[in-house]
Amino acid sequence: MQQAEAFITTRNEAETAHIGEVLGRILDRPLVVALQGELGAGKTVFVRGAARGLDVREQITSPTFVLQRIYHGRLPLYHFDFYRLSDDDDIIELGFEEYLPGEGVAFVEWPERLPEVLPPDQLEIIIERFYDESGEGRQLWFNPLGSTSAAMLALLLETLNWHSDGSLNIT
Ligand SMILES: Nc1ncnc2c1ncn2[C@@H]1O[C@H](COP(=O)(O)OP(=O)(O)OP(=O)(O)O)[C@@H](O)[C@H]1O
Ligand SMILES: [Mg+2]
Repeated sequence: MQQAEAFITTRNEAETAHIGEVLGRILDRPLVVALQGELGAGKTVFVRGAARGLDVREQITSPTFVLQRIYHGRLPLYHFDFYRLSDDDDIIELGFEEYLPGEGVAFVEWPERLPEVLPPDQLEIIIERFYDESGEGRQLWFNPLGSTSAAMLALLLETLNWHSDGSLNIT
């Protein structure tokens, strides 16, 4: 169990991507989104959805080996993956701060590997895999750490649609 301001349960990849897509659609200002979760949690799935919501036409591929990719949508989308960063990398030379935040929306996978480059106002999302009698699912925990991320999370929760049993409605 995590401590969080809000959580949403998803049952498949499409539902997680949908939440990302709605976030992408409502974004109208720069934001930093820190995506935590183990390998295969669904972080990149979430970013692909967000890219759709931001009208990015390019294919999103995992930036694990290049650390950063930039895409062009309604706002620029910066996709970071710090998984492969090791302690002896010269972080200053990487110059990530320029994008955190920059003119666009930054999604950072494995932010815990380089927390010092992230700004205080970030939307933290922790994706946790679980198994129950219905099979596999994901719990998405949302923690806005500043006023911009809090405003965006409030708008996201308002914009999503729900079934009467409280589950996510993506139709
Ligand atoms: N509810 C769900 N939400 C998201 N992905 C799901 C869900 N259920 C199953 N999956 C599967 O989990 C995998 C998530 O992969 P993804 O590449 O997004 O993980 P990741 O968190 O980015 O991992 P990595 O740290 O390796 O980059 C996909 O194969 C997807 O189909
Ligand atoms: Mg990934």
